[in-house]
Amino acid sequence: MTERDETAAVLTESDLQLAFALRALATRSGTAGFTFEELRTLGEQRFEERLLPWDELFARLHVRGLLLAREHRYTLTESGKAYVTSAMSEGFGHELLGIAASRTYATFCERVYGRDLTQFSMTDEQQLEMLLDSLDLCAQDQVLDVGCGVGRITEYLAHTSGAAFVGLDFAPPVIEAAQRRTSGKADRLQYVVGNMDVLDLPKGSFTAIIAIDTLYFAQNLSHTIGRMVELLTQGGRLALFWSQSAAEGQENRLGPDDTKLARVLQEANLTYTTTDFTLEEASLWRRTLDTAEALRGDFEAEGRLELYQGTVAESRLWLSEADRRSRFLYLVRHPKERLS
Ligand SMILES: C[S@@+](CC[C@H](N)C(=O)[O-])C[C@H]1O[C@@H](n2cnc3c(N)ncnc32)[C@H](O)[C@@H]1O
Repeated sequence: MTERDETAAVLTESDLQLAFALRALATRSGTAGFTFEELRTLGEQRFEERLLPWDELFARLHVRGLLLAREHRYTLTESGKAYVTSAMSEGFGHELLGIAASRTYATFCERVYGRDLTQFSMTDEQQLEMLLDSLDLCAQDQVLDVGCGVGRITEYLAHTSGAAFVGLDFAPPVIEAAQRRTSGKADRLQYVVGNMDVLDLPKGSFTAIIAIDTLYFAQNLSHTIGRMVELLTQGGRLALFWSQSAAEGQENRLGPDDTKLARVLQEANLTYTTTDFTLEEASLWRRTLDTAEALRGDFEAEGRLELYQGTVAESRLWLSEADRRSRFLYLVRHPKERLS
């Protein structure tokens, strides 16, 4: 089978779970690779009772040349990376359309974040306000929202600031739904299908770029940040939300200069300022857990118990790491601005 055939195959829920875990571990472990046990542990934490059996699927990926094995450690081949991206796009598309269609999820967002924007992140009203304050947007601004998901946050930011926004996501059905929903506003608000690993857009075309809880999915974060900087006009800025837990066994949380994103910015000689949302994140995860529990019956009555289960599993996972987890908003200036 060619790579095109592989990615075009109909994927099951197990394929999608496996792809999600593979992307998370492959980016974390880099060239050192990961073991099957590490993959299983990540799956158990992330999917709890929804976890499906993967062993056979994993073996098939290996046979198909999507995984390389060396001394029981695995890395993804180039075709493997392409397969995972395609599967993740399908998985996200499915999940995002699910939350957008759920009345109970709308109530959930209103209670947790203070406003229902079909959030699929840890960004409440206060954090969005800080984002707008930091960027100080006006009608002349052209802003790119990388990994916009359902795109209602993009729409809200465009409406509140008066700036023109382009929402980009790699899940085509979600982008099509956003285009239909906002067709009357197409002069100020556009949505495009795109991959943050590539960011194939004209250089120097945005005065600001935002990424709300999306950069974790970049295959190569340095490359994605480099592309983002190229897309900025001179004087442009990046506003990036990033959460990260310190390694297990570490007593202290990561400081704003210690995260993976900070290291990438430092290596690229980019200057940044940060706003600390660490305490807010911990209380948000507590709220997501309590609110999902309170709405369990409503999710169930709506036939969307999987949304309850997914939210609870994720909340428990991050709450269990709350004392070593940090969250920051990074505001990065275009490097040329320092020369002028
Ligand atoms: C955690 S969600 C955040 C969505 C939205 N920003 C929000 O705050 O609700 C991550 C988003 O990144 C998108 N995404 C993941 N990998 C991507 C990629 N390689 N290129 C473009 N979008 C991607 C997903 O489809 C999803 O919409």
